[in-house]
Amino acid sequence: MCVFCSLSLALALAALTVCRAELRLDPSAPRDTGVLCLNGGTSFSLSGRHILCLCPDGFSGSSCETDESLSCSDGIGLHYRVSRSASGRECLELGRHKHCSNPDFSRRPWCFVWKESRIIREDCDIPRCTEDLRSDVTDDSLTDAQSGWRCGQSQGRSMKIVGGALSAVELHPWMAAVFSMRSRGRAFTCGGSLISPCWILTAAHCFPDGAQTDVHKLSVVLGKNAINETDIENDQEFSVSELFIHEHFDNTDGNFDNDIALLKIRSPDGRCAKESRSVKTVCIPKSHHSLRRGTSCEVTGYGKEREGAWYYSRYLREASVELLSQDLCSSKSFYGDAITENMLCAGSPDWRADACKGDSGGPLVCRVQDRAFLFGVVSWGEGCSRQFRPGVYTKVSNYHHWILKKTGLSS
Ligand code: ARG
Repeated sequence: MCVFCSLSLALALAALTVCRAELRLDPSAPRDTGVLCLNGGTSFSLSGRHILCLCPDGFSGSSCETDESLSCSDGIGLHYRVSRSASGRECLELGRHKHCSNPDFSRRPWCFVWKESRIIREDCDIPRCTEDLRSDVTDDSLTDAQSGWRCGQSQGRSMKIVGGALSAVELHPWMAAVFSMRSRGRAFTCGGSLISPCWILTAAHCFPDGAQTDVHKLSVVLGKNAINETDIENDQEFSVSELFIHEHFDNTDGNFDNDIALLKIRSPDGRCAKESRSVKTVCIPKSHHSLRRGTSCEVTGYGKEREGAWYYSRYLREASVELLSQDLCSSKSFYGDAITENMLCAGSPDWRADACKGDSGGPLVCRVQDRAFLFGVVSWGEGCSRQFRPGVYTKVSNYHHWILKKTGLSS
């Protein structure tokens, strides 16, 4: 790479950073058109000229660009405290900072360094962040107390949808397939998650007729590996006796806020789900608790394997995605104002894995202390696996009380 290319790339990246930074400007700060204080820093100016930034706690650098907490990488963060590349070379002060950063959302943070009288880009060796395990992050009693089941436990964990891999329902035994009766027979409609033996959590937009939906036309199958094959041993089939679509879901102008719904299931002999190797409940996170950005979670579904595919996957697939911060996802280069407080975004750092059409309503599950918690419901996304267009999920932790109220379950 030639020096000038590197420099112009650095300038372009600095411009990208500035444009993103505008979103975080403190509106009360005296503005100087040329300089921005990032992360809520206040610009002090003298005779209209910016002199310095006063940074809020936890941030430093001449533009408050360094988040001091970021000495580990979550794959999608911007700036890190580390100022040497993996080979030990000092990062050059190009653009706005001299730290490792990830302004172009690469796989790993990086910086420019001098090597043999040339400026080159080198990756930084920053350890990956581990999950922020707040002990009160979760609430397992919801399903456990009344059913005697222990939620969030599967046969084991594979890690290896779009960019994902074939999976097995035993690894995601809360996975539900929702069908609806159409003129040509039963059609697969959406994914869902078993949160207690009688209740499936899914997305509101799966029911375009809203309150007029005829529940008699709906059915749910648990324990399914292949969507259009019947496995008498493992499948458990149910009709739907109740449907609750969130009262504030209104998608008339493409707004997916409150994209959540509950289905009460009943087997032909009037029972709920029976626990088995391929049927188990997933735990529900407590109100307003969240995991830190960069946490790796899994999304599962029977949806399309890539945007534009005309067929749906016949088999259950899974993909590993990372949680993004709300700030990043609602920044201009991502989804801007379309993201509400009731949504969370997750994507893969290389943009290769994502949910896609047909995965709606399905689970985004994050493991906490080896138990699976349903943090998101597949809701929407622009295309599938597109750069800067991560999957958007309903933030389940915001609906803890709503779920308890509708189901009558107690925590
Ligand atoms: N609304 C979509 C569905 O009908 C889900 C799309 C999710 N898209 C994404 N890129 N994550 O299944």
